[in-house]
Amino acid sequence: MAKMFRSILSGVGHYVPEKIVTNEDLSKIMETSDEWIQLRTGIKERRHFTPGVDTCANMGVKAARVALERAGLSPDDIEFIVFATLSPDYFFPGSGVLVQKELMGDKTVGALDVRDQCSGFVYALSVADQFVKTGMYKHVLVIGSEIHSTGLDMTTRGRGVSVIFGDGAGAAIVSRCEDEGRGILSTHLHSEGQYAEELAVLDPGSSREVRLSKEMIDEATGIYPYMNGNYVFKHAVTRFPEVINEALASNGLSASDLDLLVPHQANLRITTYIRESMNLPEERVVSNIHKYGNTTAASIPIALSEAWEAGRIKPGDLVCLAAFGSGFTWASALIKW
Ligand code: UT7
Repeated sequence: MAKMFRSILSGVGHYVPEKIVTNEDLSKIMETSDEWIQLRTGIKERRHFTPGVDTCANMGVKAARVALERAGLSPDDIEFIVFATLSPDYFFPGSGVLVQKELMGDKTVGALDVRDQCSGFVYALSVADQFVKTGMYKHVLVIGSEIHSTGLDMTTRGRGVSVIFGDGAGAAIVSRCEDEGRGILSTHLHSEGQYAEELAVLDPGSSREVRLSKEMIDEATGIYPYMNGNYVFKHAVTRFPEVINEALASNGLSASDLDLLVPHQANLRITTYIRESMNLPEERVVSNIHKYGNTTAASIPIALSEAWEAGRIKPGDLVCLAAFGSGFTWASALIKW
């Protein structure tokens, strides 16, 4: 077998739009309250994009520039782009090509879009890892970016979902690593499509007789995210510990070996449940949902970048990323930093 390489995250970065939307702000446009949102989700505020300033792709580019600088690399070093989002700029083409245009200019590289919602970043990272491990590429740019705010039902009817989601972007550079002691140790990916409709935006769908009708817009059901909240919650609290333990066990490690767990930020109650059930101290689990809400594919790279900035990740640390969301999909990545 040909020599396999190891891949590391040589740089991480994030970008969030300037506009802060507090729970108080939302309670002025729908029947909700700061108390309800904080108690049920832990969210205090989230960011909403500014039209004309932020796009899904350019927020990813802004996060990527930070990650590149921290990696000591330039856009010229990037050989492949993997872009995870559920809120792309266009129905097609994917946002990855827009990143290629904005970041790389004349240099043409492959750009792949990943559609695995809250698990999107870990899925994207696993793709990058395979390309780097095999020696195909030395540096792959991985982005998770979302604009939820234009796709939410901002009336009382949609409050169960619209108070949760926020906009933002995060990025990582996955690079070839010569040091045997470091790297992405493993990734584990799962899906269970029988639950596809439990958390979904169904319209405009290609399999309908009419892709987008006036009725769809007037009824405003399928065009906004639907979430069977309690149901998703129950699956999440099972799958998160399961996929984290799968990562640890496949590397002969246990929860006590973990220096930092970076879970997808879906709900503070879910994060607290994982932390307690895995017996992890508070300082070993990242939580920033109070500031950004749930930014789906962007949530893990934003949390990772903030944790790195705060000095919570040092060389040699064992870091686990874990996600669960629409699909259902769930995934983990274990990294020796
Ligand atoms: O990121 C992908 C994965 N996503 C998740 O993992 C999310 C999982 N689910 C959740 O986080 C929670 O289910 C939610 C935060 C979405 C909802 O919390 P919950 O504790 O499950 O509340 P609920 O949906 O059971 O609603 C309880 C009550 C209802 O009123 P009644 O029927 O008891 O009178 C809702 O109508 O709260 C009401 N409600 C609200 N009230 C004020 C729902 N949304 C709101 C709101 N403000 N925004």
